[in-house]
Amino acid sequence: MSKIIAFAGKGGVGKTTVAALVIRHLANSGQTPILAVDADPNSNLGETLGLAVPTTIGDIRETFMRDPQGVPSGMDKAIYLETLVEQALIEQPSFDLLVMGRQEGQGCYCMVNNILNRFTDRLAGSYRYMVVDNEAGMEHLSRRTSGRVDNLYLVTDYSLRGLRAVGRINAMLDSLKLQVQDLGIVVTRAPTQLNDTFLREAEEIGLPIVGIIPDDPALLDFDMEKRSLLELPDDSPAVQAVDRLLAATCPA
Ligand SMILES: Nc1ncnc2c1ncn2[C@@H]1O[C@H](COP(=O)(O)OP(=O)(O)OP(=O)(O)O)[C@@H](O)[C@H]1O
Ligand SMILES: [Mg+2]
Repeated sequence: MSKIIAFAGKGGVGKTTVAALVIRHLANSGQTPILAVDADPNSNLGETLGLAVPTTIGDIRETFMRDPQGVPSGMDKAIYLETLVEQALIEQPSFDLLVMGRQEGQGCYCMVNNILNRFTDRLAGSYRYMVVDNEAGMEHLSRRTSGRVDNLYLVTDYSLRGLRAVGRINAMLDSLKLQVQDLGIVVTRAPTQLNDTFLREAEEIGLPIVGIIPDDPALLDFDMEKRSLLELPDDSPAVQAVDRLLAATCPA
């Protein structure tokens, strides 16, 4: 069974960036195969990894629902949909990327969703790691991960607002039917020294700060130049911080 790594936190705090750097760490340290899942409807994990995304699972669902008769004659619906998902998988030497795209629209998509969910679950099982970058809300995370996450990183920038969002997510976890093995706070765009107010609030949440990622100007440059974070130099401060985070919380 694959090890599932996921991220949660307020919008814009750096979840996708950390997800991309986690994939980079696992790929570069040979902890493969890896399935990267972009579960954010406004997907951009692909971009962050320098990949164009021609088809999403949402596109497959929409196309199928628009023309259910489009299944080649004599072919089982489930097998047809599974073939489309396989074609949508973006294969790289050290990881594969699956982009979920738009969420279910209105109307009854149950049958299609069940087939797609069952197949993506089965697919995920054949990888050593599944790294899921989801949207700011937590509603869909349990479904995307079949209710089980090995490492959930609660990401916040260096702000009390970000940290309070982490507190709220932590308080919500029980009601989400999500089984989490390891849970910790990751602070991004952090100064060298976190101040006492921030540390006190983190302590009140009752979770350890497992990673501190400094403000790294190279990230903004790469973003502007649309370059893949996989190309960041090994000595970039953000890369080194994520390498330390994984060594401490998710050893090979
Ligand atoms: N440690 C850091 N240093 C400097 N810039 C950073 C750092 N982490 C993230 N950023 C920048 O912050 C912006 C938002 O990051 P990112 O897209 O990873 O956030 P997000 O939490 O995934 O956002 P969303 O909730 O919209 O999905 C990006 O421009 C990214 O380059
Ligand atoms: Mg994101």
